[in-house]
Amino acid sequence: MNTPQLPAPGADAAAASAALVGRIQEALLAAGGWLPFSDYMRLALYSPGLGYYSGGAAKFGAEGDFTTAPELSPLFGACIADTAAAVLAALAEQGRHGDVLEFGAGTGKLAAQLLLGLERLGRLPARYSVVDLSGELRERQRATIATSAPHLLDRVEWLDALPETFTGFVVGNEVLDAMPCALVHRDAAGRLFERGVVRQDGALGWQDRPLTAGPLHALATALELPNGYTTEIQPEMHAFVRSVAGMLSTGAVLWLDYGFAHAEYYHPERHMGTLIGHYRHHTVHDPFFWPGLTDLTCHVDFSAVYREADAAGLALEGYAPQAQYLLGAGLLDKLAALGPDHPGYLAQVAAVQKLTSPAEMGDLFKAIAFSKDLPLDALLPGFDGRDDSHKL
Ligand SMILES: C[S@@+](CC[C@H](N)C(=O)[O-])C[C@H]1O[C@@H](n2cnc3c(N)ncnc32)[C@H](O)[C@@H]1O
Repeated sequence: MNTPQLPAPGADAAAASAALVGRIQEALLAAGGWLPFSDYMRLALYSPGLGYYSGGAAKFGAEGDFTTAPELSPLFGACIADTAAAVLAALAEQGRHGDVLEFGAGTGKLAAQLLLGLERLGRLPARYSVVDLSGELRERQRATIATSAPHLLDRVEWLDALPETFTGFVVGNEVLDAMPCALVHRDAAGRLFERGVVRQDGALGWQDRPLTAGPLHALATALELPNGYTTEIQPEMHAFVRSVAGMLSTGAVLWLDYGFAHAEYYHPERHMGTLIGHYRHHTVHDPFFWPGLTDLTCHVDFSAVYREADAAGLALEGYAPQAQYLLGAGLLDKLAALGPDHPGYLAQVAAVQKLTSPAEMGDLFKAIAFSKDLPLDALLPGFDGRDDSHKL
């Protein structure tokens, strides 16, 4: 693990991190001295008031630790609006009304972009609901929408939990990767271990425990990992995808995130897994680096997403690299419509390059869509070009 020379946090942030470490140590004590990594990650990201997402860290954009697609360009949300509008139109043809539900809305940029895009397309939903684990972000989301789409703010509502049923369009960008992962290690002799967190010499450290029969063991065994291999499994993400699928009565779900289908994810060369941290736009390989101030994330296993959604009765509408999804949803036409005289046009050209270049976000990020009881007479915008569904 590296200990990078990175900018030190301010005194308040350092104190919040120390308080979080105290809370983690209490949890360790209560658990008998060993915490599964997934429990550590949940505390580090979502511990009330102190976790990375639930505390005061800046997180997004230039001031924060990472930049997501809706932060880069409003054209991202404009493309998703095309997909959403097709779903809402198909529902309207059946005489049904559909709303929009966004998970993990970050700063609220995607919500504002999507609402404005749907307004342009004449498909505004009556309700735009947001479900976010982070209460701290709610105020930021409200402020963003109040600034960029004030006339649409009264359509937005924040929910504390998943609705029981939902009709319409569901979307989440970079939400699945932020769900806690378990770390599993298969040693040279083929034995399975779960990697956990302990207190070592006054600091946090690692300890592996034999993985005994249970749901995680079953998931790890099914992966048929090579010997000498460490990887992540996200049981919470699996359960979440299943719950969202179960909640959808009619409509479609779109997930965008970085990750791979099974064969690429669990490739023998990726023997150290994909768990990383983000701190002030640097990649950090030590998950104990300033807990609560460092984002922790792993890549998404899209084959697992597919399996869970399929088992819950959703139909796959398409799986494509982000570049193909955005180009299919009219990204270049939307850029051209801005025109070179638009202020910030060159910044938008650069953002489009970043969103689509295979060396940046174009290939690593994927879009996957599912539908339920939705009679579509054409493929969904964004999924009418390259389709990688065979990889799932
Ligand atoms: C990396 S951020 C992405 C934010 C935003 N979608 C964007 O693209 O900028 C991850 C977000 O997912 C939220 N999140 C994580 N797990 C969640 C869950 N189970 N339900 C709702 N939101 C969740 C976090 O609170 C955070 O706002």
